[in-house]
Amino acid sequence: MFIDRYGRKITYLRISVTDRCNIRCVYCMPAEGILQSTHQAILRYEEIALIVRLAAEHGITEVRLTGGEPLVRADLPDLIRMIAGTPGIEDVSLTTNGLLLGKMAKELAEAGLRRVNVSLDTLNPERFARITRGGSLQKVLDGLDLAEVWGLLPIKINMVVMRGVNDDEMESMAQLSVTRGWHVRFIEIMPIQNQTPWGEGFPMPADTYYPIPEMIERLKEAGLQKVDDKVGSGPAVEYCLPGAFGRIGFITPVSEPFCSQCNRLRLTADGNLRPCLMSDIEVPILQTLREGGDILPLFEQAVLLKPEAHELQDQHAPAGRCMRQIGG
Ligand code: 5AD
Ligand code: SF4
Repeated sequence: MFIDRYGRKITYLRISVTDRCNIRCVYCMPAEGILQSTHQAILRYEEIALIVRLAAEHGITEVRLTGGEPLVRADLPDLIRMIAGTPGIEDVSLTTNGLLLGKMAKELAEAGLRRVNVSLDTLNPERFARITRGGSLQKVLDGLDLAEVWGLLPIKINMVVMRGVNDDEMESMAQLSVTRGWHVRFIEIMPIQNQTPWGEGFPMPADTYYPIPEMIERLKEAGLQKVDDKVGSGPAVEYCLPGAFGRIGFITPVSEPFCSQCNRLRLTADGNLRPCLMSDIEVPILQTLREGGDILPLFEQAVLLKPEAHELQDQHAPAGRCMRQIGG
């Protein structure tokens, strides 16, 4: 079992399988995109499977695949099959922008994927195209339908709330927990490499910050209430609307740190273990792995380097990678 210096048990591994993406959300990357890693610099599936096997032998039970956009990496179902078949791994999930879900939901489910989190910041097609710089909302909605059909449940929707951009849709997004039964999570925007202007018609990035307490106050008018029997294991405190099957969550990395319950470790697509989303500390494992060396000590090192709490409260944002390269 991996236990860090503060007694936290590390049972959850988030794996970024690519730093590429088929859209460019304004809060995630600049319009011109970001230099991408070469194929050689990215972990191969066999390598990831080996890492997961080792991690599972030391108490990792849950794996989430992220990107970039994980579904743009070729043959992702092959990787899912390998991970789902690893003894000790109980849950394999995926965070996706949903654009390719329609095409892939069946194959993903058959490969052993249990559930999906889909990023969706608006239900307005024009606005969707503007926030994602060209994405098609309809494709995501079709993808969500098929994810349901193939049982990738429960579906969780992640909405990054941005003042003056999509905050007027909080209520209609929350309604998806009633009308569709999906879990809807509102995410506070994080100031990670997204502070240069987003383009015409957008407010200044710094002005888009919308604190969670304010979101909660606002949704109380729609009937938001706290629930005690929390279903998720994640950092979100859970709420619901009257009559809803789905839950409402708020992810509060900036205003209310959840570091004391953090059980996760991250693996970047280019083979670095990252103990904390909000810190630039990384332990490279790719080279050791390719040289046939023992990576267990590197895992242990990464666990011990896990900071007690993140630095965002001191207005100190990490400089090294953007969200797309870390996988959120
Ligand atoms: N702040 C908050 N959330 C972000 N995401 C990406 N960039 C940011 C940011 N700067 C979200 C995506 C996705 C998840 C992986 O992270 O919308 O839901
Ligand atoms: Fe792509 Fe996700 Fe970044 Fe949007 S937030 S550009 S979908 S990686």
